[in-house]
Amino acid sequence: MSVTSQSESGRVLVVDDEVRQLEILKAILEREGFDVETATSAEAAIALLRDTAPSVILTDLKLPGEDGIDLLEEASHAAPQSCVILMTAHGSIDNAVEAMKKGAFDYLTKPLERETVVLAVRRAMEKSRLLSENLALKQQLKDRFSLPNIIGDHGKMQDVFRMVLKVAPSPSTVLIYGESGTGKELIARAIHYNSPRASRPFHAINCAAIPEPLLESELFGYEKGAFTGAISRKIGLFEQASGSTLFLDEVADMELATQAKLLRTLQEREIRRVGGSRSIPVDVRIIAATNKDLIVLMREGRFREDLYYRLNVVTILLPPLRERTTDIPRLVDHFIARHAQAAGKDVRGIEDAALSVLFKYRWPGNVRQIESAIERAVLMVDGSKITVQDLPQEIRQETPAGALALELPDSGISFEALERELLQQALRKAGNISRAARLLGMTRRTFQYRLEKFNIPRPVSEEAEPDQAAEETDLESESARQAEPL
Ligand SMILES: Nc1ncnc2c1ncn2[C@@H]1O[C@H](COP(=O)(O)OP(=O)(O)OP(=O)(O)O)[C@@H](O)[C@H]1O
Ligand SMILES: [Mg+2]
Repeated sequence: MSVTSQSESGRVLVVDDEVRQLEILKAILEREGFDVETATSAEAAIALLRDTAPSVILTDLKLPGEDGIDLLEEASHAAPQSCVILMTAHGSIDNAVEAMKKGAFDYLTKPLERETVVLAVRRAMEKSRLLSENLALKQQLKDRFSLPNIIGDHGKMQDVFRMVLKVAPSPSTVLIYGESGTGKELIARAIHYNSPRASRPFHAINCAAIPEPLLESELFGYEKGAFTGAISRKIGLFEQASGSTLFLDEVADMELATQAKLLRTLQEREIRRVGGSRSIPVDVRIIAATNKDLIVLMREGRFREDLYYRLNVVTILLPPLRERTTDIPRLVDHFIARHAQAAGKDVRGIEDAALSVLFKYRWPGNVRQIESAIERAVLMVDGSKITVQDLPQEIRQETPAGALALELPDSGISFEALERELLQQALRKAGNISRAARLLGMTRRTFQYRLEKFNIPRPVSEEAEPDQAAEETDLESESARQAEPL
């Protein structure tokens, strides 16, 4: 895994109100290969923290306005990977000791010596690298990325999991297709956290949510003064994610100009910040996702063909929930457990009637929608089991009585096999012919005729219920039944 020479040596933010001192420190550290940002006040430094993500902050303790301690405190939230070195004037050792107690990494007493500064920064840099790795590991534990936490017993999901494990070890680009809410981001994370890049944080950006030209700045960063308002350098996502994975969500919504820049990055494996002239090498694994048909967009000239082929190295297709309804019960249990715990309620399951409503619904919002339905139901339920009444109204309403949760597969289906299956299921459910016939809305005679047609044996219980059998063969009732509409 190659990382840019820049992040190898690391970023230092130097803060001092004495401009001359600042210039000297900058020169010393740059000569050592560090990437140096400067600020003349704590306020200015704080404003830089998030965008520059420094590994080391070298700051004067005494500053006009907020001081070095304030900056130290702010950095622990805004740049938790950073290590702070304080510079104090001779005689203010007490302050320095207090600063160490508050989590400063080191302190240096003025006047400074070149070697001491460089050594302290190098040590802090190493510590910051360990901190980053630790933070990434913690993040990794928090994320629900591991395959056992992703529900999918259906064959199509098992195919997806096999694919995830196959592509995870390599740095190749992956394109994930799927309707909204099918779990595209979850699968992208699963790939990342099963890859050799797992100890580094997963980076994601939703290309549809950020208007151009902001998207370009977010991805590639910019140099100070690149445009009005670019008051400081910004490190883009490609640089931040170097050595790791970048998830480009809704990639189809990217404008053509940004698509061109993305293509160049994928080909050259380097970026240029907006307004910058230097090429910066990056090593980023790209996972892209879309719910749109890229082939159609390509024909309409809205998606670059060359980019399509670059992204489409490995494709993963996430099936909509209505094509894997057999996964519903486990998904429901999974979400009940998650949300019952969050709500501090003792909810243990769902009533059969409510589950059958969930089976019949079409789930246009897929897994995300069933999760929010269950979250709501957990809040509503009084007892320990979710009832039909606890489900969101639109789900109850959208399910006409008797509607079938049946989807004709693309590969087609044998009508005869389906009929045979329905007859057998009705028999199993009902236990005798009359009730089974009623389940399918047929007369007993029609049902029997079909059983014979398919050579399906009559149930044993039929013989065990002579009274009912007699009643059913009664000529009068039979003729009455024949008058029923089929
Ligand atoms: N198979 C699954 N098992 C468990 N949870 C899942 C599964 N699929 C999706 N989820 C959960 O459903 C929610 C939606 O998933 P995710 O955000 O990955 O979908 P998406 O396809 O990216 O959606 P969108 O298109 O709306 O961005 C998340 O909370 C995710 O954890
Ligand atoms: Mg998503």
